Amino acid sequence: MKLKGKVAIITGGARGQGAAEAELFAQEGASVIIGDILDDEGKKVEQKIIDEGGSANYVRLDVRNDKDWDKAVKLAVKKYGKVDILVNNAAILTLSTIEQTTKEEWDRVMDINMWGIVLGTKAVLPEMRKAGGGSIVNISSLSAMIAQPWAAAYHASKGAVRIHTKEAALEFATDNIRVNSVHPGAIDTDMIRDAYGIERVSKYLEIIPLGRMGQSEDVAKGVLFLASDDSSYITGIELPIDGGILIK
Ligand SMILES: NC(=O)c1ccc[n+]([C@@H]2O[C@H](COP(=O)([O-])OP(=O)(O)OC[C@H]3O[C@@H](n4cnc5c(N)ncnc54)[C@H](O)[C@@H]3O)[C@@H](O)[C@H]2O)c1
Repeated sequence: MKLKGKVAIITGGARGQGAAEAELFAQEGASVIIGDILDDEGKKVEQKIIDEGGSANYVRLDVRNDKDWDKAVKLAVKKYGKVDILVNNAAILTLSTIEQTTKEEWDRVMDINMWGIVLGTKAVLPEMRKAGGGSIVNISSLSAMIAQPWAAAYHASKGAVRIHTKEAALEFATDNIRVNSVHPGAIDTDMIRDAYGIERVSKYLEIIPLGRMGQSEDVAKGVLFLASDDSSYITGIELPIDGGILIK
């Protein structure tokens, strides 16, 4: 068990990659706080983990809201005494060119995808320092490394997460808090199905060297590595999980 005795907060844990990470972390021995704004889905993930013998609590956590963060961290400490791991996974994807992008859309994407990560990091720092260290995994995207001409705000937000992660890794290195980013490619979840439709999603197959869409579990395994002590000497890196898209 790679996370035995560890306590993890995972945002956007009600579905998709966040839910897969919550389930895998619990199987690896972690107690998991699942934060999201989708209460019904979040409670289902919580129940599934408990039914399988793991330890999980769903909490309503809008990553833009510092009071929600306070509540989530307090819940972790009350139930399990500490916070070792934070996975900043929650995000939204909107499809707009630069000319189509309004200030309202820009601010909404940045608030959730980037400011939410800053708020989460601030919220867990005191507990990680008390625990003598920790691991923060920020879910960025391949969209921080290669561009598509129709997701202006999303690309900017994920690019910001990429460099923010390195800045944070430097700031907190002396606290023994590691901060790394994960860059998923085309992962088969509601996010891209809703945004693109299944027909367009299947076209991705042509550009993926491994010849298949990624599954949430593929990403969860990489996140587990960065969250666990297996990566104890790794901080500030970016881990693409993309079936090889970046090679081309
Ligand atoms: N699916 C892909 O192909 C892909 C590719 C690259 C990066 N990513 C990134 O992976 C992460 C997970 O995405 P996914 O594919 O599982 O998508 P998803 O839409 O299934 O999951 C995102 C989750 O975040 C939650 N969320 C949205 N706004 C929130 C808020 N304000 N507060 C709390 N939770 C909120 C949603 O309710 C949802 O449960 C995201 O950061 C996404 O940008 C996804």
